[in-house]
Amino acid sequence: MAKLNVNGRMVDVDVDPDTPLLWVIREQIGLTGTKYGCGVAQCGACTVHVDGVATRSCSMPVSAFNADQKIVTIEGLSPDGSHPVQKAWLELDVPQCGYCQAGMIMSAAALLQQNPKPTDDDINSEITNICRCGTYNRVRAAIKLAANGGEVGRG
Ligand code: FES
Ligand code: FES
Repeated sequence: MAKLNVNGRMVDVDVDPDTPLLWVIREQIGLTGTKYGCGVAQCGACTVHVDGVATRSCSMPVSAFNADQKIVTIEGLSPDGSHPVQKAWLELDVPQCGYCQAGMIMSAAALLQQNPKPTDDDINSEITNICRCGTYNRVRAAIKLAANGGEVGRG
């Protein structure tokens, strides 16, 4: 039995300790916004925040977490989709198929938390998520829009 703090709620889950956090989030807790892509910490589709740090949940066993750590999924990023990154994503129509986008948004939100005005190089080095649809240019533009408080500018 593990006790986790997910999106501000304490949850008890009864799973094998080796179970990846991703599957606990999706199958035990029922939050399916976090996606499975590669399963080997490469694509970033499974990104959540752990104490504010972008974390690839497919490759971390649930036993690595405790109730004192704050896990946030895409469902918990904001109560109503009003996080600046979510608003910028909508404004610039970033998603194509959408599969990678929850992970992209979580990675972008964590980046801006640590670095409120990232350069292109910062974004390129920190956002290593893979998008099969090639939305990278819009992802970069939306991160800069969010960094500018929703104002179009040089970022
Ligand atoms: S599913 Fe976790 S990084 Fe690809
Ligand atoms: S929007 Fe389709 S994989 Fe990224």
